[in-house]
Amino acid sequence: MCGIVGYLGNKEAYPVLLKGLHRLEYRGYDSSGIALLSDSGELNIYKSKGKVSQLEELTTGKDISGTAGIAHTRWATHGEPNTENAHPHYSNSGSLALIHNGIIENYAVLKASLIEKGYVFSSDTDTEVLVQLIDYIKTSGNHSLYEAVQLALGRVIGAYAIAVIDQDSPDQIVIARKSSPLVIGIGENEYFFASDASPIVEYTNQVIYLNDDEIAVIDRNEKLKITDLKNVEKTPEVIKLELSISQLERGNYPHFMLKEIFEQPQTIADCMKGRVNLEGTNVVLSGVIDNRERFLNARRIIIVACGTSWHSGLIGEHLIENLCSIPVEVEYASEFRYRNPVIYPDDVVIAISQSGETADTLAAIELSREKGAFIYGICNVVGSSIARASHSGSYIHVGPEIGVASTKAFTGQVTVLTMLALTLAKEKGTLVQEDLTKMIRTFQKIPQQMIRILQKSGDIQEMAKIFTYARNFIYLGRGYSYPSALEGALKLKEISYIHAEGYPAAEMKHGPIALIDIEMPVVVIATNTKIYDKVISNIQEVKARCGKIIAIVSEGDEEVKKLADYYIEIPKTLECFGPLLAAIPLQLLAYHIAVNKGRDVDQPRNLAKSVTVE
Ligand code: G6P
Repeated sequence: MCGIVGYLGNKEAYPVLLKGLHRLEYRGYDSSGIALLSDSGELNIYKSKGKVSQLEELTTGKDISGTAGIAHTRWATHGEPNTENAHPHYSNSGSLALIHNGIIENYAVLKASLIEKGYVFSSDTDTEVLVQLIDYIKTSGNHSLYEAVQLALGRVIGAYAIAVIDQDSPDQIVIARKSSPLVIGIGENEYFFASDASPIVEYTNQVIYLNDDEIAVIDRNEKLKITDLKNVEKTPEVIKLELSISQLERGNYPHFMLKEIFEQPQTIADCMKGRVNLEGTNVVLSGVIDNRERFLNARRIIIVACGTSWHSGLIGEHLIENLCSIPVEVEYASEFRYRNPVIYPDDVVIAISQSGETADTLAAIELSREKGAFIYGICNVVGSSIARASHSGSYIHVGPEIGVASTKAFTGQVTVLTMLALTLAKEKGTLVQEDLTKMIRTFQKIPQQMIRILQKSGDIQEMAKIFTYARNFIYLGRGYSYPSALEGALKLKEISYIHAEGYPAAEMKHGPIALIDIEMPVVVIATNTKIYDKVISNIQEVKARCGKIIAIVSEGDEEVKKLADYYIEIPKTLECFGPLLAAIPLQLLAYHIAVNKGRDVDQPRNLAKSVTVE
């Protein structure tokens, strides 16, 4: 949801910023822009509608000199995606340029008062208000850039990660954060900053994560200074980055999404590493053990999440209720936060988020914390806001996920939830050692089984050709497979723009069955489960109305294969691990259909990977 990047040092800033924008493009890609303090002291601003490559074209032949600059890639909230609304925004005086990720909620009031003072606005954005306000405070009160930013932020309600550059202070960039991420990279006589570490990693592995309400003054001639909004100086913690450039590159894959689908056997093995013992007799999720009493005494567990992470939460609900006999509720964070939910101090709230920055999930955490609940975060991005706002938690350790549609993060989340349920079941005594060992040993086979499914990518690609022009899809599943159906449908609609809905298979007859005709493909997850026979009845209902069945079946299945028009076999496993395997053919089907349709698979229209606005 908007990416920001900046540089101040001895190098030419433009190439650093441009590469950084490409790395951050997953956060938003409807327009982008760059501001550079040129060698001759000019403030040059270039902005373009569309992707970063269009900005690159625009800057060809222009003055892109300068060793200090800021850049932004946008996901529109206020104002349509056009050049005027693209960042950086600049002040009427022409000396300040600002980039922003977040929302200034009280922008209308501030804008009205600035207009009264004679300020003229050239965009429809909330952000432009901030740069004019800083300009007004700076010029009317004769303040330094740092003071003006500090005073302006004191008047702002909302969320922001900002960077301000000033033609009058060419050796400085002032940055600040509240609720939107900002990380500073420290090099040799140079500084980088960005919404995440991906634009920084190839220059330095020393980083500082700015906290909420902190302002940093990055200065060519002075030590980095970080204060809060009240001018109290902070001692930053310098952290060593654990990230490699190869994780950020596509390699030989045509899309990041395909790379990330194929990484899953490895990422799941990495996620299990150090948590599942090699003998297959024990699983230890340290965050659960360290907070054993909180979990064992939990009145209930509430899972809050959005999007794909919410789907993994639904699988978590089945796992925890089945294996640990603890009541679980799964909530959309966006609904939970606004409906005055009943939260008890002995509730455990599990917040699931790949990015660790989703605004609604963060707000749900804050609300739960206020009511005294214990917060357990399941995140991918180390040091992210949700990880830091939680009392404890587990990382999924699947490496950076760059394709906007989540794949390996989903299976990583389900893997952590499985380990959480197994750890808790052991501690609670709801699983005896013999059963636990059997389960763990089956669980350990998942990465190898995933490899076998991935070998069918070619077959799925062929099958995808048949359905490329379908206008609608229905996905059906029951029990553990119902969230898989939801996730399969979400993947397809996100990247192919085909309308797709997931349903619990038995619910179909209460409405969606009206949609079934010869043109309706119905994907059914019909693996070996205790309600296999019931799923077969649901398939019959579709067949009777001439719907086309694409079935995901267990190896060795005979019955469903006979009924289905098309089928994909996946290895047998325990019912509770089924979603980890079913995810792969569903991801591949969506991927190949989207590629056939010529869609922008990694950056589908209107979406952003990290949704830092509500
Ligand atoms: C966006 C992404 C989804 C993701 C959701 C929640 O909508 O496009 O892929 O599932 O946000 O994100 P989170 O980072 O909290 O898991």
